[in-house]
Amino acid sequence: MRLNRNCLFFILSFCYVKGVDKGNFKSCEQSSFCKRHRATRETPSAYIADLKSLSLHKERAFIDVINVEANIPLTLEIIALHNYAFRIKIQEKNGLRKRYQVENALVREPETAPIILLEKKDDHIVLGLDAVNRMVIQGNPFRLDLFNKNGHVITMNGRGMFKFEHYRTRKTLLGKAISKVAEVVGSSGSLTHRLASWIGNLLSSPEEIPMEHNPETDSQIEPLDAEEVQQTSEEPPAEVPVNNDAEETEPGMWEEDYKSHHDSKPYGPSSFGVDLSFPGSNHVYGIPEHADSLALRDTLNGDPYRLYNLDVFEYELWSPMALYGAIPFVMAKGKEGAVGVYWQNAAETWVDVRDVPGGGVVSSLMKLVSGGASEPGPHKEVHFISESGLMDVFFLLGPGPKDVLQQYTGLTGVTPLPQMFAIAYHQCRWNYNDQEDVQFVHENFDKEDMPLDVIWLDIEHTDNKKYFTWDPIKFSDSLGMMKNLSDKGRKLVTIVDPHIKRDSNYFIHKDCEANGFYIKDTNGKDFEGWCWPGSSSYPDFFNPAVREYWKEQYAFDKYHGTTKDVYIWNDMNEPSVFNGPEVTMHKDKLHHGGWEHRDVHNIYGMLVVDSTFQGLMARGENKLRPFILSRSFFAGSQRYGAIWTGDNGAEWGHLQVSIPMVLSLSIAGMAFTGGDVGGFFKNPETDLLIRWYQAGAYQPFFRAHAHEQTRRREPYLYDETTKDIIRQAIRQRYALLPYWYTLFYENEKTGIPPMRPLWLEYPKDSDTFALDDVYLLGDSLLVRPVTESKATSVKVYFPSDESAMTIWYDVETYETFTGRGYKSIEVDMYKIPVFQRGGSIIPKKLRPRRSSVLMQHDPYTLVVALDEEGKASGTLYIDDGESFDYREGKYVYGHLDYQRGKLSFRFLDAGRYSDASWVERIIVAGLRLKPHKIFAQIQGTKDHVELDFKYEAKMHILTIRKPKLPMNYEWHLQFY
Ligand code: NOJ
Repeated sequence: MRLNRNCLFFILSFCYVKGVDKGNFKSCEQSSFCKRHRATRETPSAYIADLKSLSLHKERAFIDVINVEANIPLTLEIIALHNYAFRIKIQEKNGLRKRYQVENALVREPETAPIILLEKKDDHIVLGLDAVNRMVIQGNPFRLDLFNKNGHVITMNGRGMFKFEHYRTRKTLLGKAISKVAEVVGSSGSLTHRLASWIGNLLSSPEEIPMEHNPETDSQIEPLDAEEVQQTSEEPPAEVPVNNDAEETEPGMWEEDYKSHHDSKPYGPSSFGVDLSFPGSNHVYGIPEHADSLALRDTLNGDPYRLYNLDVFEYELWSPMALYGAIPFVMAKGKEGAVGVYWQNAAETWVDVRDVPGGGVVSSLMKLVSGGASEPGPHKEVHFISESGLMDVFFLLGPGPKDVLQQYTGLTGVTPLPQMFAIAYHQCRWNYNDQEDVQFVHENFDKEDMPLDVIWLDIEHTDNKKYFTWDPIKFSDSLGMMKNLSDKGRKLVTIVDPHIKRDSNYFIHKDCEANGFYIKDTNGKDFEGWCWPGSSSYPDFFNPAVREYWKEQYAFDKYHGTTKDVYIWNDMNEPSVFNGPEVTMHKDKLHHGGWEHRDVHNIYGMLVVDSTFQGLMARGENKLRPFILSRSFFAGSQRYGAIWTGDNGAEWGHLQVSIPMVLSLSIAGMAFTGGDVGGFFKNPETDLLIRWYQAGAYQPFFRAHAHEQTRRREPYLYDETTKDIIRQAIRQRYALLPYWYTLFYENEKTGIPPMRPLWLEYPKDSDTFALDDVYLLGDSLLVRPVTESKATSVKVYFPSDESAMTIWYDVETYETFTGRGYKSIEVDMYKIPVFQRGGSIIPKKLRPRRSSVLMQHDPYTLVVALDEEGKASGTLYIDDGESFDYREGKYVYGHLDYQRGKLSFRFLDAGRYSDASWVERIIVAGLRLKPHKIFAQIQGTKDHVELDFKYEAKMHILTIRKPKLPMNYEWHLQFY
């Protein structure tokens, strides 16, 4: 099917006006494997674990799991990991086809730990990381229970929803005919179904699959010496006759149609799913990307949450529909702690969430094993269902939410510290028309004294949508344009999408075609789809040669007209195929290594960005930190840069949902995230635009963007008041850049994201568990964006520790708020409620500049907000803002501390950076008594310098002027 340009515009404009057409995207009911799993009969499970087959090695164990109805043997591999985690893999014991194991998500092969056999009985086995963190494997029915210091925290298959569709050979024409009958008569007709399976069972002849150990997994393990063996199987695993015919006749198993698209499914069904209960946890979070609340909702009466990277126009809000990226990670949280599950699979995945009223997961065995575990109260349960690939699951035992995050980012990596410009303000539009337009935009930002670091060029800057090229007329002098930007300390980002125009004069196409670099059709020919350039093909990033090729294209001698100040935007990398099923690639298209697109879909976009990252590293000679924005993502994408929440709309609802969306991404490792400020589709009213700038200034990635059919809306185009408010919002972002930068550095060290749900810092305050309108930046700033039209006041939830009463200071007025719970805060158009926690010290830079580079040597203002005991502390990180020199120790990372009249700055480690600037102002809020004198002493000098200060008695605010304290030395101030 080919679309011409007019037709394409028709489709786009239709969507533009109407919002998402849900009919273009599958529901669970229309996805045969999802439907089959949802219909799985609950307990008792059809699976048993043959505990006698236990084969125990140093850091892993193997047990046979058998589907007693179909007599299919599976291998359960259990691996003990360092840092309180278990990994399990389940696959056919002697499958017909290898299953795809995700390779690119983990930062490295995880460090394993010794596995301890704590107990072996006829009906269960207990394996431990230690005596507390352990897993109970129950034989009949098969289930796993995990424990940590808080007790029983995870159950797998407690409800018996485990279902594993083994690879099988397709029966004869008869089998095909039966599927067809079932499909035509109606897939839900149970009579048809029973008739079909009866005929199938009657006529099929079982075929034997050789039953041997899986050579793949066997080769990775070292068997133990005789004395090292704690206990292994004495008897060989039971010989199980293989019935290869079960479920042959379900419609959709061997081929499936959706709209006009046919999925040939040459390998038949291969899906699997299982229920996971979290006793003790009444909330689950994660599995982005969805335009929904942070706390996942019960999906019993609707569709499950879907993880399938898709290009969705004007997506629906508060919906479990799939969006551009997928991270199959959940965190379950209760009052006592948190645990995580990382379901490492790149195929289409659905996740049902259930609110379980109570009970249900404690078996009589469990009572025995855990010394009488009591039935849990209301808790959450999820049911993961994936279409293909290996069942590869990580259980992260916490026990707190930050531990879970560290365990997860320990596996999949962290966002490297971005360059300073990347966390400043970005101005984008589809499109800036030509180089004069670019010049006009940044000159106008200057005229209006609005800070700006980056201008973006969308697809129209290229020569007819041929990426890595420039439109020869509109951008005839891209280097001249770059010089003007660079002179002001500004950068440019250009778009490079992974669909390649099939134009015989286009060098990328010629290379890809000649080298066989494209994804292949089922007939082995290059797949041809439709995207912005018209007829396009898609490089197969699973081929290492393609990744190397893509990387090379960013070299200065290949990507002409660019300089080191040009960075990259990888869009449409789900991949978006306008004429494909659900606007993406057909699942039966073929990748390097023989994998079907079905197996790898959700990871394609990440591989595009990985190659871009390597390209930018190479062209910056491994010295300059890359900046890349991607729309599609998977677990591990955080290692390459930023993502944004795609094509939102200029509506209040989209502004509201941006908060839980970014929070959900943050707690799934994606630290550098934001939404299009202003909304991509439609024209925002002025007050919405203002509120969006104010909110965006406090989200990790801060970029305004707009659809090509919207009116121009650069902030300098508005009336004086609007300009003034937006200017202030952007300036607030720039003032806090030292704090943001420190948070990003700490994120690289710890995996804890800059933008945090309140419960990450107040894990015992259960009123914070389901909030979508308020969040923390670091542990010190509480932000409640105004997301309601015409608001004159908003309700703000103030969290507090159980032990102490937290004081919160309004960052503008220093008015204080104490006590847990909601308070109504008055707002006008200038104000969004932002509060600094008493007990924190925040570094700022308050001199307004045109771009962040020009602020590099500007002095700091330190805002010290005292807690009830008159104490405060914070950190400050400084480096050159652009290079990897910090990894060689060229930085300053210091601890600021105020107590008992002494403010000190001490280095936290051995890093040193000579050009670290100095302190021009210190504000201490909450100081009850006016000091008589304040003296400063800088390390290495004997002098005690008396400092000038003023004190506002009514507000208890002290301001020290020009203390001139250098940040490349340690120092302290003494208050007398
Ligand atoms: C889709 C992206 O989501 C959007 O941001 C961009 O402007 C268009 N593609 C055109 O490149």
